[in-house]
Amino acid sequence: MGLFIQRALFYLCIVGSLTTLISHFYIFTYPSTHANLCSWDHELEWDIPWQRDAALGQWHLKKWVHIGVNYVIDMIRSLGGASQWDKKTQLRMLAFGDPQIIGVNKHTTYRSGVDTFGNDFFLGHIFQLMQRRLNPTHVVILGDLISSQWVDDSEYFNRTRRYSQRIYNRKPSVLQRAFQESHDRQTGQYKSPVQWWKDNVGNNHQECSYKDVYTWDKSFENFLFVNVSGNHDVGYSGDTTYEMMSRYNHLYGKDNFWIEYQTQSKRAWRIVVLNSLALDGPCLHSEICDRTWEFLSELHLQGFNGSTILLTHVPLYKREGLCKDGPSMEYYDDGQDGVLLAEQNHLSQESSDRVLDLVFDNGKPGFILNGHDHWGCETVYSQMGDGNGWECDKSNTSARYVREATVKSVMGQYHGNSGLLRGDFNEERQEWEYEYSLCPFTREHPWWVAKVSLFLTVLGWSVYALVQMH
Ligand SMILES: *[C@@H]1O[C@H](CO)[C@@H](O)[C@H](O)[C@H]1NC(C)=O
Ligand SMILES: *[C@@H]1O[C@H](CO)[C@@H](O)[C@H](O)[C@H]1NC(C)=O
Repeated sequence: MGLFIQRALFYLCIVGSLTTLISHFYIFTYPSTHANLCSWDHELEWDIPWQRDAALGQWHLKKWVHIGVNYVIDMIRSLGGASQWDKKTQLRMLAFGDPQIIGVNKHTTYRSGVDTFGNDFFLGHIFQLMQRRLNPTHVVILGDLISSQWVDDSEYFNRTRRYSQRIYNRKPSVLQRAFQESHDRQTGQYKSPVQWWKDNVGNNHQECSYKDVYTWDKSFENFLFVNVSGNHDVGYSGDTTYEMMSRYNHLYGKDNFWIEYQTQSKRAWRIVVLNSLALDGPCLHSEICDRTWEFLSELHLQGFNGSTILLTHVPLYKREGLCKDGPSMEYYDDGQDGVLLAEQNHLSQESSDRVLDLVFDNGKPGFILNGHDHWGCETVYSQMGDGNGWECDKSNTSARYVREATVKSVMGQYHGNSGLLRGDFNEERQEWEYEYSLCPFTREHPWWVAKVSLFLTVLGWSVYALVQMH
């Protein structure tokens, strides 16, 4: 090969190596670009005394020095030593909204197939990085785990497998067992276990309350992973069939449950996971909705005396203009099954009030995390005088209130966000206090640049080495 080409290859490899280094540096340290939003320590940015020295320079210099210093300090903090900072915060919940993974089939173009494949690892990168860096006590995926309720059982299973293996690192054995339990022997494809559901889940005979669960499997991980059902996972109540419910419950676990923590102490708190899709109707199968309301009554009957974090998919009712989505309900009316709920942006006002009354009945501080609208929003529900319902606004309008954060989507087109909810028990006031922040990444392109440049650079250097040997 000519000397010129060898030289050119050499310089290309150098450029490739730099691109690989810089892009990897960025994708593995991006939380440091928003240190205050992306760590449990929300004061972080203002804690750095160096900032004052930097103020002596030019404004833009100051800004860059400031970012640089933040970056380095935050990075050092996050290198394995993170846990000692983290332990100060007792409740560290990492939340992801609407991953909505799409599928590939024989009509998918090559380009979109590759996009979908890369997207799984992009989402997985965000989860793994944030999990390692922030050492959360809980990781919750707030519904719309996949992108459509209209897929067949086999496709539903295949997407769940991607969700479980490529993105959120779940134990493969759970799905292997599920497949063994329920598949079509002729076609060898997964099949939703409707009879199992009717016998066990549908009649609410399954246990739905837990105590002090900090992980589902101690030998596997040290945080609690929670799936929440979204409209694309189980359908809107007017769509939801027994098949849809049974495959969700079989592959993703319970759609309604609660876990109480430290109930014997003044720090008592709990999480409540609620299938908000099966509340408003008209429902295709009213039993499925009744089941959720029964769950809420049972929860209420506990007379729990601590703080509550409610995890659900559909945001609660609010007037137009507070968040991206306004209230909206659409219905099917095909003249056969009667009118059925086809879509909703929020819960209806009546359902919202009932949920708030039943879940936050004891007046203790609480927090609601949900997804659905993709754009994210933060609001506050204030209780109006005795039994007059709740009012939603940007800040509280009465002394008894619950905050709600709709977590902006983790999808690339919404910049790969993670929601951080921290809870601390305030000894002086004897109550839980919560703080929420949203940590953005960026579109999927930098991740692609990192991976493609790594591949090309390794290839480039290998070719270069071969050429040198000859
Ligand atoms: C799901 O995956 C299995 C095995 O990889 C495959 O045989 C099946 O066709 C897939 N299902 C769909 C709907 O693509
Ligand atoms: C959440 O869903 C994944 C994917 O199927 C599964 O592996 C995991 O066990 C589920 N989590 C719970 C708590 O059921």
